[in-house]
Amino acid sequence: MALKITVIGTGYLGATHAAAMAELGFEVLGLDVVPEKIAMLSRGEVPMYEPGLDELLRKHVAGIEGATGRLRFTTSWEEVGEFGDVHFLCVNTPQKHGEYACDMSFVDSAVASLAPQLRRPALVVGKSTVPVGSAARLARTLAELAPAGNDVELAWNPEFLREGFAVQDTLHPDRIVVGVAGERAEKLLREVYATPIGDGTPFVVTDYPTAELVKTAANSFLATKISFINAMAEVCEAADGDVVKLAEAIGHDERIGRKFLRAGIGFGGGCLPKDIRAFMARAGELGADQALTFLREVDSINMRRRGHMVELARETVGGSFLGRRVAVLGATFKPDSDDVRDSPALNVAGQIHLQGGQVTIYDPKGMNNARQVFPTLSYAPSALEACRGAHVVLHLTEWAEFRDLDPAAVGDVVAARRVLDGRNTLDAAAWRAAGWTFRAM
Ligand code: UGA
Repeated sequence: MALKITVIGTGYLGATHAAAMAELGFEVLGLDVVPEKIAMLSRGEVPMYEPGLDELLRKHVAGIEGATGRLRFTTSWEEVGEFGDVHFLCVNTPQKHGEYACDMSFVDSAVASLAPQLRRPALVVGKSTVPVGSAARLARTLAELAPAGNDVELAWNPEFLREGFAVQDTLHPDRIVVGVAGERAEKLLREVYATPIGDGTPFVVTDYPTAELVKTAANSFLATKISFINAMAEVCEAADGDVVKLAEAIGHDERIGRKFLRAGIGFGGGCLPKDIRAFMARAGELGADQALTFLREVDSINMRRRGHMVELARETVGGSFLGRRVAVLGATFKPDSDDVRDSPALNVAGQIHLQGGQVTIYDPKGMNNARQVFPTLSYAPSALEACRGAHVVLHLTEWAEFRDLDPAAVGDVVAARRVLDGRNTLDAAAWRAAGWTFRAM
């Protein structure tokens, strides 16, 4: 009989994973502790912006006309325990308030709620990003609390999806990594992922700690690449070099590669910043902190980019933000997402506001989330409206919509034609030709 799958936590990761599992042909039950989210998902509505996810949901959610009906949602742990053969843990692990370590409380409470409902053989599969050592600890908790005892196994299967490409990354991953403690878990996961494995996706089987570390190592490497190119940008700026050309030129070396070398105001989001910090904190607990001191530098280069953008903007408007209007294009941490968690764009906007600037923000999808974080900033309904009367325009998130702006039309509404490109993606020549003072990062 086909495996039945549950997905616990329906954020970016869980909602996408649940829909992808239904797409692969499984019967899926998604659980969240927030009833409003479950109500929305059950109507086939996605609580966040993720391209392609709403179509995939509507294709499978039970009760929607023409849907396969393979995907349902609930708030009941009992139902999840009864239903599933394989339970995916997809809850988030944010940074602890005021600390580097990550907050495991959502994972811990999910396991504590699920375990007592596991009355028959089942596999629990962790997908959340956790400090190394968590899987072994959770396996012991499961063995203690699950009525089925040793018939409940745990595997760790880190997720590598990017927001904005979540559906594509989940259905066609670069690799599948599973940390297991026994052959049965591996066999079940080979069954779950039979389609991508059949399509040639590498399937890497390892132990718990290695699987947990693969995830934090991958994100640390990506963060390091970005901070490396941003450090080169600092040197280029001092020496009058061009970091975009430099990145392109070094990227032709296949050992370096061209991806993830876009200099700008740095990385943000719910993953890279908190993952490198949690990794440092965990290494410290393990007595291996020296191995990761370089990540402190990666973090500080990254944070310096935001400060540098604020300085450039201040300099551009004459040394003080007082009485100056600043248009901010972009609020999300990257395009094709509505996520503003640790967003460099919003951070820059907030710093300028605190220094007395009159900031007006426009973002194609992130306005509601941004408003919740910074209700005191002004928000405009379009890029053009945000720019009206501005003494400087800051391009902080590289939405395609901003690349397509007509510099002449924007020029007609601003108080001064000055633009700072924090993402190095605007067409400098076109803006200059329309009479703008153009500066990139
Ligand atoms: C990241 C990883 O890329 C995923 O593989 C991982 O699964 C995910 O974290 C996670 O741990 O869940 P994500 O946070 O969605 O994915 O975003 P990225 O595409 O990695 O971008 C992160 C930040 O880096 C963004 O703010 C982006 O603007 C910035 N960035 C990216 C640069 O500044 N330069 C670049 O060259 C690339």
